[in-house]
Amino acid sequence: MASQQQLDQIISGLNLDLSWEYAAMIQYIQHASMLTGPEYTYVIQELLEHAQQEHEHAVIISDLIQYLGGIPTVEVATRLTSLNNVEMLRQDLQAEYDAIRRYLQRIEQLEALHLYDSAQKIRNIVVVEQEHAIDLEKALGIQKVRPVSAYPFSLTP
Ligand SMILES: [Fe+2]
Ligand SMILES: [Fe+2]
Repeated sequence: MASQQQLDQIISGLNLDLSWEYAAMIQYIQHASMLTGPEYTYVIQELLEHAQQEHEHAVIISDLIQYLGGIPTVEVATRLTSLNNVEMLRQDLQAEYDAIRRYLQRIEQLEALHLYDSAQKIRNIVVVEQEHAIDLEKALGIQKVRPVSAYPFSLTP
């Protein structure tokens, strides 16, 4: 049986998550307006899609907080911006990595209380955050594949 203390801890974590979803939505809208240059036309569309999805996440989390007996926050976490295209995308990517880390922790906490249905809602969200991170890594040209020489085995027979 879930202790009230554990549940309160999850609710306060979810309220933190909610404030970061609001922040992400605002940050994406602003960055989509501020990014400039022909190579960013596609990225701008991506960021606006992300903004829409962060809005959807905020609604899901707000409802989940209410379902668990908490009061959803109206606070907005820190937004970052820059006049530099690459810096803006780095800020967005860092926010996605942070969100993934928080949500994986939230899934653990919820499952520890056997709240598998609520954990599933967070799972659905974190999968989308992973897609956002992949989009941003690609937009930044981050190469994650290690050079062949780094592999402990030979690729040739
Ligand atoms: Fe999100
Ligand atoms: Fe995201």
